[in-house]
Amino acid sequence: MDTIIVLDFGGQYCHLIARRFRDLSVYSEILPFNIDLGSIQKKQPRAIVLSGGPSSVYDINSPKLSQELFDYFIKNKIPILGICYGFHLIIHQLGGKIEFSEKKEYGKANLLTIEPDIILDSLDKDEQVWMSHGDQVKSMPAGFKVLAKTDTCPIASYVNEDDMIYGVQFHPEVANTLKGKKILENFAFKIANCKKEWKLEGWIERTIENIKNDVGFDNRIILGLSGGVDSSVTAILLHKAIGDRLHCIFVNNGVLRKNEEIEVQEMFNDKLNLKNFHYIDAEDLFLKKLKDVKDPEEKRRIIGHTFIEVFEKKTIELEKSYNNIKYLAQGTIYPDRVETSATSTSSAKIKSHHNLTLPDDMKLEIIEPLKDLYKDEVRKIGIQLGLSKELLRRHPFPGPGLAVRIIGSVDREKLKILRDADEILIEEIKKAGIYNDLWQAFCVFLPLKTVGIMGDYRTYEYICAIRVVESLDAMTANFAKLDMNLLEKISTRVINEVKGINRVVYDISNKPPSTIEYE
Ligand code: XMP
Repeated sequence: MDTIIVLDFGGQYCHLIARRFRDLSVYSEILPFNIDLGSIQKKQPRAIVLSGGPSSVYDINSPKLSQELFDYFIKNKIPILGICYGFHLIIHQLGGKIEFSEKKEYGKANLLTIEPDIILDSLDKDEQVWMSHGDQVKSMPAGFKVLAKTDTCPIASYVNEDDMIYGVQFHPEVANTLKGKKILENFAFKIANCKKEWKLEGWIERTIENIKNDVGFDNRIILGLSGGVDSSVTAILLHKAIGDRLHCIFVNNGVLRKNEEIEVQEMFNDKLNLKNFHYIDAEDLFLKKLKDVKDPEEKRRIIGHTFIEVFEKKTIELEKSYNNIKYLAQGTIYPDRVETSATSTSSAKIKSHHNLTLPDDMKLEIIEPLKDLYKDEVRKIGIQLGLSKELLRRHPFPGPGLAVRIIGSVDREKLKILRDADEILIEEIKKAGIYNDLWQAFCVFLPLKTVGIMGDYRTYEYICAIRVVESLDAMTANFAKLDMNLLEKISTRVINEVKGINRVVYDISNKPPSTIEYE
C-alpha cells in the first residue's frame, strides 16, 4: 500500500500529520527520526515528511537525519516535505544557513506566494498559516528556490525540484493553516503520486478473518471491557470473529460515573447478547483500599494494581473451567502504541493503567485488533459495527475515574455528590447541543466548605468545579467559552438539586500550564 512516513523530530503534531494523510485515504505511519535504513527500505515509502520539533538545528543534541537516509531518499526520488524544524534541518544539513530570528512569529501569519509551485497549488496569493518556531532560513544551498514569505519571514516555503525536496516553515497539519489540507493533498497526490488505498471499507472483514486465523477454531480470548470506545469496538469485533469464545470482564471499580455499570451491562448483556460477559462488582474492595488516601499518584497506583488483582483472579477462575484461554485482547490504538517524542513521557504514564501486565506464567498472547487505527477511524468502524453514536462520541474518561476528580480522599458521600452534579452538567451540555463540540465536560469535587444561604438557612457545604475544555488531541486544551446563561443554569441546578454543594465555580485554565484533569 502506498505509504507516507512521518519521521518524528519531537513535534507535538506528528500524529496530526499522519491523521491528515489518512483522511486523504493515504496510509501514513510515524517512525523515529533515527530509524535505520533497512527498516525504511522495508516500508517502501512513497514519500517522507520531516516533522516539526522544539529544537534548534544548532543545539548540540538536536535530532538530525542521517546522511545515509538523505542520500537514499534523494537517489530514489522519494519526495521529502520538511515542516517547521524539518524545514530548517534540510537546509542546515545540505549546507545552507539557519538563523535565530529576533522577529519571532508564533501563531497566525499571512503567507504571500512569491512563486506558485505545485506544493502551493490552489492557494490564494495571500493565505492564513500557523507558525510556531523562532528560527528562520537565512540562506539556501544551490538548487533551492523560495516559494513564499510572510511579513517577518522572507523564506517561508521552498522547493528543490531536482531532488524533490519541499519545505514549509509553518504547520499545514493544523486547522489554523486554512489551506493546510490542500498543501498535504498536493504533496501526496501531485508530487508523490500516491494512490488512495487506505480505506476502512473491507477493514472489518479483513480483521475478522485475521483474528479467526490467528486464534483458531478452539481457543478463547479474554478482554478487559471498560465500556469506552476502544474496548467496546474491540469486544464487538472479537465477538463477530470468535463468538462466545470471547470472555469480557467488566470491573466496577467504585469510581465510575452515575449508572455506568448498569448501562454497560445493559449494552453488552441485553442488547448485544454477549454470553460470556462477566460483571464483577469490586466497589467495596476498591473503596476500602482508597480509604483516606490523598496522594493522586498513590490513588492511581492503588486503582491500577487492584484492577489487575481483580482481573487476574477472574481469569484464573475462568481458566479452571476452560483450558483453552490463550489470548488477552486489548483496545490499544495507534497513538497508544506509537508514542511520539513529544508525548512519550506523559502518554506512557497516562496509559499505564490500561496496559495490563499479567504474570508471565499465564502465558497469554496479546491481541490488539485496533493497533493501527486512530480514534476517529475506530469511531467509523464502531458505527459500521452498529454501536450507538452516543457511546462512540462519549467524552474520554480516565482509567482512575472519579478518584482523580475528587481532590484528596475518596468516599461514598463525595462520590454521590460528584455523580449527581456531573449528571446535571452533562444533561445541560447535551440539551444545549454542544456536547459533540467539546473534548470533555465534567465536574470536580473540591473538599472545601464555604458558607452560603438557602432560603432562611445558612449553609456550609462543598464547592463543585466545572471543567469544560476544547481540544484536538488532549496535548493542549482551551477552556470552553460557554454561554453565561448556560453556566448560570448549570450552577443553579447543581446547587438546588445536589445535596452537599452550595457553590459552583467555572475553571478558566488552559492546558498548558494546567492539565485537563485535576489530579
Ligand atoms: P491531562 O489531565 O493529563 O489529561 O491533561 C489528558 C487526557 O488524558 C485523560 N487522562 C487519563 N486517561 N488514564 C486514562 O485513561 C489516566 O490515568 C488519565 N489521566 C488523564 C484525560 O481525561 C484527558 O482526556
